[in-house]
Amino acid sequence: MKAFNDLADFSNEEIKALVALAGRLDSNPEPEALKGKVLSLLFLSPSLRTLASFQAAMVRLGGGSFVISPDMSIHGLESRPGIVMDGVAAEHIREAVPVIASYGDAIGIRAFAERKSIETDMQENEFTAMTNLIDTPYINMESAMNHPCQSLADWKTMDDLNLPANGGKFVLSWAYHPKALPLAVPAATLHMAAKRGMDVTVLRPEGFELPDALMQKAAAAADVSGGSITATDQRSEAMEGAHVIYAKSWSSTRHYGDRLNDQKLREQHLDWCVDEHWFENAKDDCRFMHCLPVRRGVVVADEILDGPRSVVIPEARNRMLAQMAVLHQMLGGQS
Ligand code: CP
Repeated sequence: MKAFNDLADFSNEEIKALVALAGRLDSNPEPEALKGKVLSLLFLSPSLRTLASFQAAMVRLGGGSFVISPDMSIHGLESRPGIVMDGVAAEHIREAVPVIASYGDAIGIRAFAERKSIETDMQENEFTAMTNLIDTPYINMESAMNHPCQSLADWKTMDDLNLPANGGKFVLSWAYHPKALPLAVPAATLHMAAKRGMDVTVLRPEGFELPDALMQKAAAAADVSGGSITATDQRSEAMEGAHVIYAKSWSSTRHYGDRLNDQKLREQHLDWCVDEHWFENAKDDCRFMHCLPVRRGVVVADEILDGPRSVVIPEARNRMLAQMAVLHQMLGGQS
């Protein structure tokens, strides 16, 4: 495997093999599989789970890793092409990325969306500019519009819970959050659930519709898998018969990059906080998923996070197991 950048690059059989390998590495540890291998981790955006789970994954497989982020004692990192570097930053990603990559056998890169222009972010220009600088195998640890490691873990989490693929009803719901957040997780989640064969409903208020290109990509995946895609702002209709609700906040697409108008619009939807009332029409055992971090009492009520519906902790642990499977395949782990 040369890159783990998008679940769309893999067949369902390949994804199922990764999920099976993740489960096997949990039940039958391979502490020497990646002995002597090094993973470089470049974080241009913050993290808890991705940072810790990649480091833990490498240790559990017998390898090692190192982390570089702008908060560390590097010389200020410039990413703009063609810039005259007479300001604070003394290092350009054109040198930094290949140098960091050269110390490892694979590299993971995280760079969130700039969130000025939706067209620019949809093109993944910043992430692609970095991966074009290297020949090393690479892993997308969250880019402007994708988070494949989260999606692989989420797929495994639903398999672990025996949630149906074909015939399973998956609600991807917008939730209130005081900040305009990236579209990477909703984009990746929508596609993942469709690819898994589920009937996916995107539940969101007006002004927060997901971009057509993302809906079309998911619809194409659903066509192959036997799933379906719909969108609505009607909560009761969306939750009818749902097996799982995946909550996430994201930026207004109507006011993308326009902080004040985004804020005005999202503040009309303070009641989009998932609580038990949301589940009135859902399956009795409907589950609650979230990629974390999550704001308690804002995105979701404590009663849900602390109750039997929530699977957010095993979901987060599956990040480590899913990434172990990716690293095992990418770095030629010996079983
Ligand atoms: N879900 C997720 O990617 O978490 P972090 O941002 O903490 O890595």
